[in-house]
Amino acid sequence: KALELDLSGIRSIVSDGELHALQEKSNEYTAQLHAGTGLGNDFLGWINLPEEITDSEFAEIERAARALQEHCDYVVSIGIGGSYLGARAVIEALTPTFAAYRREHSAPHVIFAGHNIGEDYLSELVDFLSDKRFGIINISKSGTTTEPAIAFRVLKGLLERQVGHDGARERIIAVTDRAKGALRTLADKEGYKTFVIPDNIGGRFSVLTPVGLLPIAVAGFDIRELVRGAKDMKARVDEGVPFDQNPSALYAAARNLLYQKGKKIEILGNFHPKLHYIGEWWKQLYGESEGKDHKGIFNAAVDFSADLHSMGQWIQEGERSIFETIVSIATPDTELRIASDAENLDGLNYLAGKRIDEVNKMAELGTRMAHIDGGVPNIRVVLPQLNAYYIGQLFYFFEKAVGISGYMLEVNPFNQPGVEAYKKNMFALLEKPGFEEESKAIKSRL
Ligand code: PA5
Repeated sequence: KALELDLSGIRSIVSDGELHALQEKSNEYTAQLHAGTGLGNDFLGWINLPEEITDSEFAEIERAARALQEHCDYVVSIGIGGSYLGARAVIEALTPTFAAYRREHSAPHVIFAGHNIGEDYLSELVDFLSDKRFGIINISKSGTTTEPAIAFRVLKGLLERQVGHDGARERIIAVTDRAKGALRTLADKEGYKTFVIPDNIGGRFSVLTPVGLLPIAVAGFDIRELVRGAKDMKARVDEGVPFDQNPSALYAAARNLLYQKGKKIEILGNFHPKLHYIGEWWKQLYGESEGKDHKGIFNAAVDFSADLHSMGQWIQEGERSIFETIVSIATPDTELRIASDAENLDGLNYLAGKRIDEVNKMAELGTRMAHIDGGVPNIRVVLPQLNAYYIGQLFYFFEKAVGISGYMLEVNPFNQPGVEAYKKNMFALLEKPGFEEESKAIKSRL
């Protein structure tokens, strides 16, 4: 069993012929990715990564995870963007929904911080952790990002007050560049255990480095299965695989054709609440990779059926500039059936005996048909089950596709110059040393 891509829901807008006309270009772009001859070729380390992680690298991450598990009931994973979303996507997808309400749990709860600058968020986190056994994984490739740096300064102080300087050292791990950045300097000075983010892997492609693997292992999930899934998907989308058998190439081609036909918005939808953060991870991967040079599909994510009761109206009848990609899970992990009721006051007896998932699947099918009828092309990505192995397949499928898709769009999918603009203004407004001229300029505009 494996991830399946279903393009039958775009046929009324994109013909087989149009799709296959992109075959040559797709092969050319795939070859460029593999040979490292295209744009952004210093950030292609993710391509062979699933095959390159060694047993001793897995073992080192698992050892570090066990050490944190021993000392901590809660581990705060600090990071933002690519240093945050992959781990959260996996942990939220695999953790039992109500685990946080249970007193007993086998692995520490992973809490996320450093992905916002909310004063209430951080002070409520400090309150919560003040009587808890906790540790920190501080993740930043540049080692200079403001949001995680603030969270780390606050939580490091709390931890040192709780367990002393030496105790804190045993409970803090840094994941950062091998040589550069403030976090590298700080971690070396304090003697923290560290993991390195390879130079040639950008944040949004880093989920299979210690950036994602360490928090996922701490949360008790099987990182080898995750990587095995990615490795198996790599074989399915590798150079040399024929275009019509390569799901990443087909998805890349389909979305570019839809874009050319005026479908400027793509929503990633799910009918499974645990996939919410997969949508967040995907939004970053596609938005940050393609939205440049005044081009690119706008990416949004929706959780169905909840959002069918809100955004569903816009999707069905709003401006016809949208297509959807639905991540579907074929089989749920557990079974729950709807009981029969003698009085049938709620009128639900027509569903008696059915699994909840049967109803969900009809909601999914009904939505797909309604949206296609309403002019919203529908792509399906089906995972047999929600587990680490298939999430690994999904990650690599989307990563490979965005590389090809970005080249089809003729942008560099591996940089993100646009995310610097807000930082420059924020530093100028906060009078960060080195930004004196910018400070004067921006203040004159206020
Ligand atoms: O994809 C990216 O490069 C970004 O989202 C970064 O991951 C994010 O800005 C965090 O950067 P850093 O890991 O340097 O703190």
